[in-house]
Amino acid sequence: MDLTDFVSYYQLCQAAVNEVGTKLENLDADYQLHNAHNPIHHMEARMKDARSLFRKVKAHDLPLTFASIHDHIYDIGGIRVICNYQADVYTVAENLLAQSDITLIRQKDSIKTPKASGYRSLHLVVSVPVFQAKGVKNTPVEIQLRTVGMDTWASLEHKLRYKTDVDADTVAHYAAQLHQYADEMDHMELGMQAIFHALSDQK
Ligand code: GTP
Ligand code: MG
Repeated sequence: MDLTDFVSYYQLCQAAVNEVGTKLENLDADYQLHNAHNPIHHMEARMKDARSLFRKVKAHDLPLTFASIHDHIYDIGGIRVICNYQADVYTVAENLLAQSDITLIRQKDSIKTPKASGYRSLHLVVSVPVFQAKGVKNTPVEIQLRTVGMDTWASLEHKLRYKTDVDADTVAHYAAQLHQYADEMDHMELGMQAIFHALSDQK
C-alpha cells in the first residue's frame, strides 16, 4: 500500500471531520439563539485508528490497498452527536443535510427500526468538500446521532459484546435485560419529550 497516499487521505478525513464539526456547532448556536434550546448536548469526534481500520478491511474481505480503503471505508473520520431528545436527533440531521455543500451518501435509522440487540441511533455518511492547496476533494464523514440514554446504553452493550471472560449464559442474560431496557428507555424518552414540548408551548 502506498503510505503517502494513505497519510494524505487520513489527513483529508480529519479536515472533513473539522468541517462538519464546525457546521454542527454553528447549527447548535443558531438554534439556541432562536429557539432557546440546544439540540446538541455534546459531540465527540474521533479518527479510526490504524488497527481497527485494518481489522475492518479484513472483516469485509477487502484487499489491503489504498484504493479499497478509499472506495469502501467511510468511517475513517467520525462524529458522534449526543442530543437530549429524539426530536433533536432529527432536527440536527435535517438541518445538516439541508446544507448545499453536504451530500448524503448513506443513512441508517435504527431509532425507527432498532437493531436485534436493541441498539438505536441515526447513522449518516455524508460527503463534504475539503479545500486544499491543489483543489477540492469531497470527503466522507460518518455521523452517529443519538440521545444521552441511547449513548449510555450503547457503551454498556459494547462492553458486554467484547467481554470474553464472561460465560455465554451470563452474556445472554444481560443481553436480554439490555434489550428490554432499550425499549423502556425509548418509551420514557418519548414521554419526557412530550412533557418538554408541552412546557415549551406554554411560554
Ligand atoms: P461497520 O461499519 O462495518 O461496523 O458496519 P455497518 O456500517 O453495517 O454498521 P452500522 O453503520 O450500522 O454501525 C456501525 C457502528 O454503529 C458500530 O461501529 C458501532 O459503533 C455502532 N453499532 C451498531 N450496532 C451496534 C450494536 O448492536 N451495539 C452497539 N453497542 N453499537 C452498535
Ligand atoms: Mg459503518
